[in-house]
Amino acid sequence: MIVYFNGKFMEKEQVSISPDDRGFLFADGLYEVIRSYNGYLFQAREHLDRLSYGATHLKLGRTDFSELEAIARELISRNRLESEDATIYFQVTRGVAKRSHAFPSPAPAPTIYAAASIFDSTAGDKKRKNGISAITIADTRWARCDMKTTALTPNILANQAAVENDAQEAIFIRDGVMLEGTHSNFMAVFDDVLVTAPLSNYILGGITRNFILDLCRLENIRVEERPIFEKDIHLASEMMIVGTTTEVTPIVKMNHTVFKTGKPGPMAKALQSAYRSGIETLTGSL
Ligand code: PDD
Repeated sequence: MIVYFNGKFMEKEQVSISPDDRGFLFADGLYEVIRSYNGYLFQAREHLDRLSYGATHLKLGRTDFSELEAIARELISRNRLESEDATIYFQVTRGVAKRSHAFPSPAPAPTIYAAASIFDSTAGDKKRKNGISAITIADTRWARCDMKTTALTPNILANQAAVENDAQEAIFIRDGVMLEGTHSNFMAVFDDVLVTAPLSNYILGGITRNFILDLCRLENIRVEERPIFEKDIHLASEMMIVGTTTEVTPIVKMNHTVFKTGKPGPMAKALQSAYRSGIETLTGSL
């Protein structure tokens, strides 16, 4: 497997990351994941803009990562993934320096790693078709969830809690509001209106969330960006998670209780097909 590491393409086994890397010592870094559909990089610019946004707020040594789009293409081609469904993960840290909480001076070059892998969507397809189980969980994350940092401990613990409860995703609750999943955004349907949490420092501005909201405007589906209170969720007709790896996945069971019909609802199905046609239009190949 050919990967990209600090300016060079190499075999994955040749990568050596310093134990003094601030990503390792402090989780002082960011990540992104872009989906490649038959070689078409879906929303690449948007993902790399989000990386720049995070880098600006983390005050990393650099904030322009536009060259990563060409690097992603190169990784797809060098690993012969042009006709596959694939993901490209980017990991960016503040770099290597003697341990100190404050920024090292002079600023080291950020460490940049990128790898493309085949993405098997068989399990995901089944989840999209039948829906998943989710749990709700207290949001113990920090107050800058708008940055996609590598500090994912609360997300890991929450997702593990989901697994231990025979569920696939956990929805974070803060002050009674259902904010987002551990690796997805959350949406619900109230009276035929698609509702999702407004952008804030408490959620990640999902690229898929944004793409879906744009699709809804095109398809005349009404949307509202407003808080969804857990106490009101019984009034919803559907719930779903959306994200780069999950696309549009309905939630049919919450906290061990079957939700409504226990089957994916009409809005989730409509969004799934609009999402697929959106990709088809963009790639011209599916
Ligand atoms: N996660 N919220 C969180 C906390 C996420 O980690 C993600 C994505 C999303 C959805 O964002 P997007 O639509 O841009 O993928 C929302 C990726 C898929 C991951 O961690 O692998």
